[in-house]
Amino acid sequence: MKLELSSGNIKLRGFRKSDSARLVELANNENISRNLRDGFPHPYTLQHAEEFITKCMALDPPTLFAIEYNGEYVGNIGLVKGNDVYRKSAEVGYFIGEEYWNKGIATVALNLICDYGFDNLDIIRIHTGVYEHNIASQRVLEKCGFVKEGVFVKAVFKKEMFWNEVRFAKLRYL
Ligand SMILES: CC(C)(COP(=O)(O)OP(=O)(O)OC[C@H]1O[C@@H](n2cnc3c(N)ncnc32)[C@H](O)[C@@H]1OP(=O)(O)O)[C@@H](O)C(=O)NCCC(=O)NCCS
Repeated sequence: MKLELSSGNIKLRGFRKSDSARLVELANNENISRNLRDGFPHPYTLQHAEEFITKCMALDPPTLFAIEYNGEYVGNIGLVKGNDVYRKSAEVGYFIGEEYWNKGIATVALNLICDYGFDNLDIIRIHTGVYEHNIASQRVLEKCGFVKEGVFVKAVFKKEMFWNEVRFAKLRYL
């Protein structure tokens, strides 16, 4: 299924095989990977990009999107639906290439994907966990109406250290 979601100069669209080289340039950055799970590797190679894009292109309905800003591919955003008793929830994840930070792009992209998820994926809750030092992402979540639900103390072990994780969620029905 082909899908595009847009607001002003920001668009979410499906991935193309031709995105892989740019994905490496955007993603191969420790300032990004240190805020994400180890499943988002560093260094980030062309093989990582190609495997990720192949996986995204197979998803139906689509849940992982390339973010475009003024027609340029600048980052990724996606929802992963829960299983079993968590099947009415989804986790959201995102990153923006560092050269595009603080232009409001993640905020618009997150609003777009929340509207899409609530309208199309049979979910009533979208959540995520942010490492405590990641103030920018917490600010994005707050701007999009996410509520801070709590702090999971030392829940994350990353780069040989423990980190507190701040959990945020947004409900479809308030
Ligand atoms: C988090 C991230 C997605 C934000 O993307 P972005 O497009 O720059 O976000 P926006 O421009 O929409 O909003 C950023 C907000 O954080 C604020 N901010 C940024 N750095 C900050 C800091 N050090 N202290 C306080 N506020 C900060 C900005 O001022 C802005 O808020 P404002 O609109 O009230 O001024 C981006 O920094 C990123 O990709 N980081 C690495 C990956 C990551 O952390 N992913 C999320 C994991 S939970």
